[in-house]
Amino acid sequence: MPTASTRLRDVQELTSPYKSLHDNYVSNTRKSKCSFSALLATGGLIVLGVLLAIVVIEKLKNEDQINEDLSPHHHTPTCCNDTIPNEQSSIVLVESFPLGMDYGRNASTGKSLYEAWKHLLSLATKEIAVASFYWSLTAEDINVNSTTDRAGRDILEEFRALPSRNVSVRVVTSIPTVAHNSTDLQVLKENGIQIRRVNFGRLTKGILHAKFWIVDGKHIYIGSANMDWRALTQVKELGVVIYNSSGLAADLHKIFQSYWVMGRSNASIPDPWPSTYDTFINEERPLLLNLSGVASQVYITASPPAFCPDSRTRDLDAILSAIGGAQDFIHVSVMEYYPASKFFHHHGYWPVIEDALKRSAFERNVSVCLLVSCGQETDPSIWPFLRSLDALHSPSNNINIAVRLFIIPAGNQSHIPYTRVNHNKYMVTDKVAYVGTSNWSADYFNSTAGVGLVVSQDALPSASSGNTFQQQLSAVFDRDWSSQFAVPLAELKQNHDCVFSKSTP
Ligand SMILES: *[C@@H]1O[C@H](CO)[C@@H](O)[C@H](O)[C@H]1NC(C)=O
Ligand SMILES: *[C@@H]1O[C@H](CO)[C@@H](O)[C@H](O)[C@H]1NC(C)=O
Ligand SMILES: *[C@@H]1O[C@H](CO)[C@@H](O)[C@H](O)[C@H]1NC(C)=O
Ligand SMILES: *[C@@H]1O[C@H](CO)[C@@H](O)[C@H](O)[C@H]1NC(C)=O
Ligand SMILES: *[C@@H]1O[C@H](CO)[C@@H](O)[C@H](O)[C@H]1NC(C)=O
Ligand SMILES: *[C@@H]1O[C@H](CO)[C@@H](O)[C@H](O)[C@H]1NC(C)=O
Ligand SMILES: *[C@@H]1O[C@H](CO)[C@@H](O)[C@H](O)[C@H]1NC(C)=O
Ligand SMILES: *[C@@H]1O[C@H](CO)[C@@H](O)[C@H](O)[C@H]1NC(C)=O
Ligand SMILES: *[C@@H]1O[C@H](CO)[C@@H](O)[C@H](O)[C@H]1NC(C)=O
Ligand SMILES: *[C@@H]1O[C@H](CO)[C@@H](O)[C@H](O)[C@H]1NC(C)=O
Ligand SMILES: *[C@@H]1O[C@H](CO)[C@@H](O)[C@H](O)[C@H]1NC(C)=O
Ligand SMILES: *[C@@H]1O[C@H](CO)[C@@H](O)[C@H](O)[C@H]1NC(C)=O
Repeated sequence: MPTASTRLRDVQELTSPYKSLHDNYVSNTRKSKCSFSALLATGGLIVLGVLLAIVVIEKLKNEDQINEDLSPHHHTPTCCNDTIPNEQSSIVLVESFPLGMDYGRNASTGKSLYEAWKHLLSLATKEIAVASFYWSLTAEDINVNSTTDRAGRDILEEFRALPSRNVSVRVVTSIPTVAHNSTDLQVLKENGIQIRRVNFGRLTKGILHAKFWIVDGKHIYIGSANMDWRALTQVKELGVVIYNSSGLAADLHKIFQSYWVMGRSNASIPDPWPSTYDTFINEERPLLLNLSGVASQVYITASPPAFCPDSRTRDLDAILSAIGGAQDFIHVSVMEYYPASKFFHHHGYWPVIEDALKRSAFERNVSVCLLVSCGQETDPSIWPFLRSLDALHSPSNNINIAVRLFIIPAGNQSHIPYTRVNHNKYMVTDKVAYVGTSNWSADYFNSTAGVGLVVSQDALPSASSGNTFQQQLSAVFDRDWSSQFAVPLAELKQNHDCVFSKSTP
């Protein structure tokens, strides 16, 4: 039985666009260095030499700070992995649902996101690190009067109290942000929590969109939810908690630390990153873990490329590998799917994931199901792309691609902006489970900070179905795909909860 990693390697016909991007970048720097020395050798350009020296000194200073910042707080593994033998690692699928959403029957769901967060908070005895796009845990932040923010307030209270329990807390968030009126960060700071806002706008023309927690260097959470009260009661979220894996936690910590050091004022991205940021866990060498009693191979992916040392598997590469490695089915649930660049490279067509999906369907007869969110604030320009993908579906030609819209009724909650949507970002194939934090569009992989978790598990022949994380994620997809909330494109009728229905003839 081949391991998942060899299986993935066997199907590497899809090459990463970032590889060429990275190669270009390296050869460009080399070229510019060469021309610099040529110019200097011809003499006369002393001023340029001085300038260059200043640049080098500044760069060294920057690197010093980066290394210094990494070392004192935490020990970094000198070799290989941080796995403590006989750790009882476990994995839990966590979800939240907008209030009033009713599947109408006994549907299997993950554990409650709110309960999972509360549990993690209760376990903390030493330290918590949190990465989130922004914080907005009370309804006042967005000028809304709603008692459905109670869970959010509770989480904020719990964080506030952590320093008094001697738990040290570090938080990174994004510049730019969407939470302009929130006082959460101020409140946290006043209570002794260390905060850094990382200017991804300046650094990569993106945002910090990763969402994860690291608790006591051994438990981690990764998922779609921001530190937002709406994530607990008004938006559909999906994530994963892994308990008792110091190896994975140490690995995720390196990503956290890369944000932390870039949160210094005027920080510039090192190239390459110091070796302390290298990882020993990636697609080629996943961490072998016994997760809830199931032998598993796990690794953490990241974007953007500028924040990935060579040893870190890039988020996009992991997605392409999973798509390319599927033999039977590819089930994807993402908030937005857009084969183009939307924000900073306006109107750049980007069919990288699109091609991989079509290729799997066409060349290998893999069945592809794409579940995309539609709400009142969804960008209508996505609609023609969804239709074009769905139009390829033709079972008689052995092409199985189906797209459905996931539409959550706003009901009497329509006064709360940016809610009532499926914010999930995951994929499950017959081989792997992937839980991420990025929409599937160009900017998220090129300029925006995100993370993903890839899990493959050798199904135990004796295990009753539903035992593995992969099987649970698959069941969650099936539940949603066959629910009343999933609408095939051809069946979309007038529906004020979905912006696309206004674009239909
Ligand atoms: C739902 O599950 C509960 C407890 O597991 C059971 O008592 C009930 O009959 C189930 N309802 C349906 C409609 O299956
Ligand atoms: C922030 O507060 C200002 C002033 O109170 C208000 O005009 C604005 O709409 C608020 N923004 C949000 C997102 O609630
Ligand atoms: C919020 O609503 C409650 C009752 O629905 C009302 O008593 C209260 O005054 C409202 N608060 C604000 C700030 O609008
Ligand atoms: C926190 O640490 C201080 C100093 O080490 C100690 O005096 C105090 O009892 C601790 N508090 C708790 C709640 O553990
Ligand atoms: C973590 O492992 C310890 C034993 O090392 C065990 O007592 C504890 O219950 C585990 N925690 C979780 C959340 O599984
Ligand atoms: C950051 O840069 C600005 C202007 O470029 C400068 O005024 C400021 O002193 C710098 N801050 C630090 C901490 O280097
Ligand atoms: C990690 O380290 C442990 C003990 O040091 C070892 O048993 C295990 O094989 C290592 N795992 C990997 C993936 O290297
Ligand atoms: C995984 O751990 C469970 C107990 O938590 C144990 O029963 C099982 O044998 C372990 N499996 C492997 C492959 O190590
Ligand atoms: C392609 O897959 C479908 C199921 O998705 C199956 O019914 C069909 O027979 C397959 N065709 C070929 C040529 O393998
Ligand atoms: C909103 O609608 C739900 C049913 O969907 C109902 O239970 C709830 O009481 C309503 N809330 C308000 C404030 O009208
Ligand atoms: C992606 O997701 C975020 C929320 O996570 C949303 O605000 C944004 O508009 C989405 N769409 C695109 C194309 O980025
Ligand atoms: C990715 O970013 C680079 C520079 O940040 C830009 O030149 C390139 O066009 C971007 N690619 C896409 C597909 O947006």
